[in-house]
Amino acid sequence: MLGFHPVYREFSVRKILVTSALPYANGPIHLGHLLEYIQTDIWVRFQKQRGETCTYVCADDAHGTAIMLRAEKEGITPEQLIDRVNAEHQADFSDFLIAFDNYHSTHSDENKSLSEAVYKACDADGKIASRKITQAFDPEKQLFLADRFIKGTCPKCKTEDQYGDNCESCGATYSPSELIDPKSAISGATPIDKESEHFFFRLPEYQDFLKEWTRSGTLQPQIANKLSEWLESGLQEWDISRDAPYFGFEIPGQPGKYFYVWLDAPIGYMASFQNLCDKRDDLDFGEYWNADSRTELYHFIGKDIINFHALFWPAMLKCANYRTPSAVFAHGFVTVNGKKMSKSRGTFIKARTYLEHLDPEYLRYYFAAKLTSHVDDLDLNLEDFAQRVNSDLVGKVVNIASRCTGFITKRFDGTLASTCEEQALLDQFVAAGDDIAELYEHREFGKAIRRIMELADLANQYIDDQAPWVVAKQEGQDNALQQICSTGINMFRLLITYLAPVLPAMADKSEQFLNISLGWDERSQALLNHRINKFKPMMTRVELPKINAMVDASKIAVEQEMQLGKKTESAAPELPGGEAIAPEIEFDDFAKVDLRVALIAQAEHVDGAKKLLKLTLDLGTETKQVFSGIKSAYQPEDLEGKLTVLVANLKPRKMKFGMSEGMVLAAGPGGKDIWLLEPHSGAQPGMRIM
Ligand code: 2FM
Ligand code: ZN
Repeated sequence: MLGFHPVYREFSVRKILVTSALPYANGPIHLGHLLEYIQTDIWVRFQKQRGETCTYVCADDAHGTAIMLRAEKEGITPEQLIDRVNAEHQADFSDFLIAFDNYHSTHSDENKSLSEAVYKACDADGKIASRKITQAFDPEKQLFLADRFIKGTCPKCKTEDQYGDNCESCGATYSPSELIDPKSAISGATPIDKESEHFFFRLPEYQDFLKEWTRSGTLQPQIANKLSEWLESGLQEWDISRDAPYFGFEIPGQPGKYFYVWLDAPIGYMASFQNLCDKRDDLDFGEYWNADSRTELYHFIGKDIINFHALFWPAMLKCANYRTPSAVFAHGFVTVNGKKMSKSRGTFIKARTYLEHLDPEYLRYYFAAKLTSHVDDLDLNLEDFAQRVNSDLVGKVVNIASRCTGFITKRFDGTLASTCEEQALLDQFVAAGDDIAELYEHREFGKAIRRIMELADLANQYIDDQAPWVVAKQEGQDNALQQICSTGINMFRLLITYLAPVLPAMADKSEQFLNISLGWDERSQALLNHRINKFKPMMTRVELPKINAMVDASKIAVEQEMQLGKKTESAAPELPGGEAIAPEIEFDDFAKVDLRVALIAQAEHVDGAKKLLKLTLDLGTETKQVFSGIKSAYQPEDLEGKLTVLVANLKPRKMKFGMSEGMVLAAGPGGKDIWLLEPHSGAQPGMRIM
């Protein structure tokens, strides 16, 4: 026995609800995120394989200022942005074999009504306070600025362009008001102080409850210790409101005030589950969330968001009379080659970039092999990664099957021996399954993998000792040959049963090959007189050039993003004065651009827009409306009657002020120096420019 606490079982089949943190809907999934989803998915698959009722839900975290600004930058609505990102996230997760039972969004009806209900319950219980606070405000954008949206010169070392509350150069921490020459990172305007009313959750009233809850085995010891420091030093009320403009849910009865994204984000776990319950008859929302629930609830999260999950969240649940989590499991961060993931080194690797070069199961295996139940960071060393996957999976595990199957197929018509002379050896493999299960249960995946690899070594040793390739050449040794190879295949079957939570695709292929399903409980029954299918290679070696190509592609992706970032910086057309030349394109790409002569029939100011003019362009056969960022250089009246060059087939974009149906071409460094491209005087509206 391994000395873990026994798992508490309320039902003969456990009923478990599991979540991973909800990724923000404004950016792609990268390897840092994947550690958590892979960890959770392995644990969930393990529970399911053991026959427990385990449900895994997640969603996109769709609210907040960052998402609102990102959408604005792209010239689309926040809803368009979050729908697009949701689809991208789901594709990434699915290709990494992360098997959610449901993937939803916090911007959903379920989440709106649950968030309102939680808030109203807390309010009714007298746990919501309100008072005026003063914050930095961007007078140009008319927006309150969170610390990370303020930039200025570090008051200690005088390095310019430092964000919010800490200096990247000297490491000093300070309040944004101490920054020298602070500026809004959004508009560049100097922030002013402004007062507004905010709503607060009275967290200090949960001090005693939280002291008890955080010490009741719900948290890893390291985390519980950290929290008890915070709890000892006293809790603050938690600001749960934000002022308009904000992308989120308006607070009931408080026009212009919105729930802070972190209030409705964890409620998104409930909302995703609710959404699933509405689709499935076998799941009941109340059974899992009522205060007297006897089911289990686990949140897998990163160590940076502990306070939200182990303080605010349980207190809010308690207040609104829901159950609290059975446990919160925090993991550390991913480093690559011993260092923080870095865009310039090409180690900030997106899920999609990885998938374009490497098999997702390599990463699932490597992370599993290094994961513990603790909060330590995990280093993805790319050389070690290749070496480990090749030696363990290709060299040890798959090799067992490929060394034995040929003889079974060719000499015994694909049928395994009807008796087993090595039952003791197989029993050893079966018994190890109990330890491995304990290790999975307690999230000691690295130890589980080591145990499995010890078995793989044993299996290979057996095959080496028995040398079926020698026996195969000996007269009258058919029975011995079939015995050896059948034992080998039975050992392979047990190894894959244990690896199935980590390597679901390999497990599928093995089920096909072995002609069985790999249930944990069925494993003690050896495969005897059993027909297997043709063996197909299950995994190829990791090739170093592919890793290098992935790193190179990550560097290029960063460069391209920077170009794109510049392009979307304003809603205006890009003015490339002095910028690096964009990556080379094919002639075919260029040929797709339909450039036309356009007559500026009308030019108007746009209410509330600093840079944009609204142009009505006459193309001879049709007119188009285009918003163009040339206000700093032209008065509307100077433009009317001019001819210019238009990208006529640009997909229409919905901008804050309306649809823009093309792009007018201009050149210059910006400000007053923007020159519209003007065709020669013989040009006619609608003429194609080649
Ligand atoms: O830190 C983050 O990425 C958050 N989007 C996690 C939210 S987890 C949950 F509370 F919704
Ligand atoms: Zn500094």
